[in-house]
Amino acid sequence: MLAPRFYLIAILGVAAIGSNGAAADPSEAPGASANTRRISVIPLPQQMETGEGSFRLAADTPIACDATAQPVAEYLAELMEAWFGRRPEVATLAANAAPRGLVLTTEHADPKLGEEGYALTIDGNGVRMTAPAAHGLFYAVQTIRQLADGAAADADGTRNNGLQLPCVRIVDQPRFAWRGMHLDVCRHFMPLEFVKKYIDLLAYHKMNVFHWHLTEDQGWRIEIKQYPRLTEFSAWRMEDGKRYGGFYTQDEVREVLAYARQRFVTVVPEIEMPGHALAALAAYPELSCTGGPFEITGKSGVYKDVFCPGNEATFTFLENVLGEVCDLFPSRYIHIGGDECPKTRWEECPKCQARIKAEGLADEHALQSYLVHRIEKFLNARGKRLIGWDEILEGGLAPNATVMSWRGTKGGIAAAREDHDVVMCPSSHCYFDFRQSDREGERGADWGEPIDLAKVYGYEPMPEELTAAEAHHVLGAQANVWTERIDTPADVEYMVFPRACALAEVLWTAPQRKNWADFTGRLATHLRRLAAKNVNYRKPD
Ligand code: ACM
Ligand code: ZN
Repeated sequence: MLAPRFYLIAILGVAAIGSNGAAADPSEAPGASANTRRISVIPLPQQMETGEGSFRLAADTPIACDATAQPVAEYLAELMEAWFGRRPEVATLAANAAPRGLVLTTEHADPKLGEEGYALTIDGNGVRMTAPAAHGLFYAVQTIRQLADGAAADADGTRNNGLQLPCVRIVDQPRFAWRGMHLDVCRHFMPLEFVKKYIDLLAYHKMNVFHWHLTEDQGWRIEIKQYPRLTEFSAWRMEDGKRYGGFYTQDEVREVLAYARQRFVTVVPEIEMPGHALAALAAYPELSCTGGPFEITGKSGVYKDVFCPGNEATFTFLENVLGEVCDLFPSRYIHIGGDECPKTRWEECPKCQARIKAEGLADEHALQSYLVHRIEKFLNARGKRLIGWDEILEGGLAPNATVMSWRGTKGGIAAAREDHDVVMCPSSHCYFDFRQSDREGERGADWGEPIDLAKVYGYEPMPEELTAAEAHHVLGAQANVWTERIDTPADVEYMVFPRACALAEVLWTAPQRKNWADFTGRLATHLRRLAAKNVNYRKPD
């Protein structure tokens, strides 16, 4: 048995700060052990003391847990089965026992760690994971998972001799509550299995929100029982002479939600209104201002034909759709889009103009605001919160709305100053559909400046203009992945990784702990883990 010694590498708040304000490279800290260089965890934990030696994790390593930890322990047993071909028993932790092996417990956890924090010790006896809540224990397991995957990569993938986990003590918790990734499955449809892989990769990086963009001009992707034409008709288009598209049944959505719940990922569905709605209008043209007809194509851009808020039938439709969505998704947040809605048709529509008059609205922007207010009332009555793109500020923000700031940070700053919650995703740093360099032939959208890995790593989500009270409203950030120029799951992976690894660290790790050289060093190991998971990541320059 080893009696590991631990070296204090850095503690949040007392981290060694270099003259440039960046944390010193832990591998160069005085007294650094061989483990310092071997421990590559992304995002970087807030406190880490490396020890000497290692614990050998193997097929016969037992798991013990308390009642709260049971679901996470079962999940860990599933991982063990994938690693070693045999699922270990999960035993109940006896009071005051000091068992060997893998231990997960909420007993004696430091409440200051919060819902998502955890403490983790690997020593000669095994791995002890302590957290106030199951969510934190899940992140302890993700740290173990990364270390185990790293050990497997070191051993060329073989696990026959067990996996050597380096001795270490970690105390960890996230900086931001909203650590998200979005995916547009409308411009190009993404199969269910890939959606699950994407969610698993988020969890692997301790991200906790999956924003599922489900409706668009180019296709409607979710089954709504009251409106079968949305999936029979709106989910499909002709592309190169062939029928292209797809959708998720409600049973499939439930399958994704169960998968996400096990990984502590909240799935926030987006049902776009009043714009980006052509696929729905093609099936139900009576909900537009002109009555159609409309054709669904793969052509990108901003379409003028949008829902008609002058027509009561539009609200009946939207509320019926959202009613089914509220019943399906446990998320407190429901995203209603709200972006890029031209007002051209409303200006010429007698019903819209009559609504403006009857409601005493100033103009068409106020008409959009009227729609968002009405939809918010509906969602709030269902116990849900409305979230939308920053255009929902125009014409007046609905009372409880959360704003997703994509056109820079202005919208987010304005919303926080109006006492509203905000999620940051400025296209300058967080649009992972944008290309990663300006090299000839670089993949991705070219309607914005390229966003390379260093730019993502350097991103600071908290606008310095905000007071402390206003800053409280910034829940966190996310990256958006629009698929006009992304056709396949492999292409999504190429655009997302490793930029999502950098964003995960931006959102989790204290800014004074961040260090580009240290990150890229850890990333070299991490990319081998991603390769072993068949992730088609882009090799950093
Ligand atoms: C957006 O990129 N239109 C939110
Ligand atoms: Zn109208």
